[in-house]
Amino acid sequence: MKFALIFAVTLALVATTQSAPMILSKRRFGQEHTPKADGTFKDIKDIAKGTNKEEQAGNLSGAMVRALLAKAPTCDQQNRADEVIDLAYELGGKKEKQLIKVAKIYRQLERNTPKAGQPSALCKKQPRHKELYGLVQAQDPTGKGKTPGKGSDKGKGENYAETHPVGGVKMPKIQKVDGDFVVNGNKFNGDVNAAQNRQCDIQHNLCFNKFNGGDRSFSGADCDKQTNVCKSGPPVFG
Ligand SMILES: *[C@@H]1O[C@H](CO)[C@@H](O)[C@H](O)[C@H]1NC(C)=O
Repeated sequence: MKFALIFAVTLALVATTQSAPMILSKRRFGQEHTPKADGTFKDIKDIAKGTNKEEQAGNLSGAMVRALLAKAPTCDQQNRADEVIDLAYELGGKKEKQLIKVAKIYRQLERNTPKAGQPSALCKKQPRHKELYGLVQAQDPTGKGKTPGKGSDKGKGENYAETHPVGGVKMPKIQKVDGDFVVNGNKFNGDVNAAQNRQCDIQHNLCFNKFNGGDRSFSGADCDKQTNVCKSGPPVFG
């Protein structure tokens, strides 16, 4: 809680020097107890109430709060979401569906970072449950970076949509040919961003094709979200 105190003092200083951005700065504070986050902690307990997993759900709910703190290890949020899905399968039936939904919301909650506006690192490990494939935490919208890999890091590092594709559907790679960028035979007049947009859009279509083909291990919304992740990460060359 030392962090919280320092942050509160910083906010007080900001408040005295400028008024307009205050609301935004304040909103960044304590991501582990936003109404949306608190809703997931409560839902876990409510759904398990009256079952023999009540205590397990209570413990998990507490661990979910801790996983969103700035000091929590990078993959804790994903691990807790995986555990919510374990619980879902243990309980089965209607509770299974409800808990999977909560797990997905929880996985995409914003996590605290030591400084406001600082992006939180993405977990590089594949989640255990396919329901979580392609899902990542939200980033501080007041930050410059939005997601790691954007801005000055663009072109470096990995694109999460490439390393953790929803439904296992890979994007086509960008080829460098005679100083141009080519995706599936289409040229982009040296515009790497246009080429990347195309590779992400193609992955989006392929993802939907798989969903429409009957794969229900992910949803159409998962394909949509992945496209945002894809476009905010670095271009993927082959
Ligand atoms: C819940 O946490 C308590 C305290 O750490 C522990 O003693 C208990 O065994 C846990 N229960 C379950 C079901 O994991």
